[in-house]
Amino acid sequence: MFFRYVAGMSTKLRRFIVTLNEILKPKLNESIALSGDELVAVKHDMKMLTCEDLGICESKLSDAMGDSSRTDISYLKVFENAPTFDLGVFALKKGCKMPIHNHLGMYGVVKVLFGSGRIQSYSQCDDMLPTIGKLLDVNLVDDRVVSVNDGSNIVHLEPHCGNIHSISSTEDSPLVFMDLLTPPYDHVTYTISYFDLISCDPHSSKCKLKVVPEPAEFTCGHLEYSVVAKNDLSE
Ligand SMILES: [Fe+2]
Repeated sequence: MFFRYVAGMSTKLRRFIVTLNEILKPKLNESIALSGDELVAVKHDMKMLTCEDLGICESKLSDAMGDSSRTDISYLKVFENAPTFDLGVFALKKGCKMPIHNHLGMYGVVKVLFGSGRIQSYSQCDDMLPTIGKLLDVNLVDDRVVSVNDGSNIVHLEPHCGNIHSISSTEDSPLVFMDLLTPPYDHVTYTISYFDLISCDPHSSKCKLKVVPEPAEFTCGHLEYSVVAKNDLSE
């Protein structure tokens, strides 16, 4: 089994969830806007979390992600607190790209836990709703390689800044990252859109994206924690 959960939630993860509740719950009855200080606090605590804190057996990741029976992208639900936030882990096999997608009206924070990858973030130039077939004018606002070993291994998006992004793993290592979304998808109010990159102006940050249906080849497998005794982790 890829993910191992060692009896109960780690203290750091528990503290992080308490912090999220304190900051995010009061937002439910007002506009969801987070202040700069609140974002800093969330990112600070999230940055401290490691594979171990999430009960993920790091020593088995590379082998497990090379398993040909596993989908290229897998998702593990860590903590669900609807309608406030969702906390999960995505695992991408090496050389794999998550299609360009958005998080309409949401905040998101990505924290790399294992490996490294490239994150490209775009902001829409207008408030046009992304319906299939439309062309959107966007600005590329961030394009960087993030690695678990770098100080900058955490990236966030906001409703009007960097809300569209793509994430890909490098050719030499799987990528595992924690994903915080607030508010979470409820699959009724919040919908996800996918995009193809049509063009990028080589002299500026201006790009064009086309709204497309969910790519047929994009499948995301689901993972569950398996509960094991601590001394079984050395298997
Ligand atoms: Fe995303």
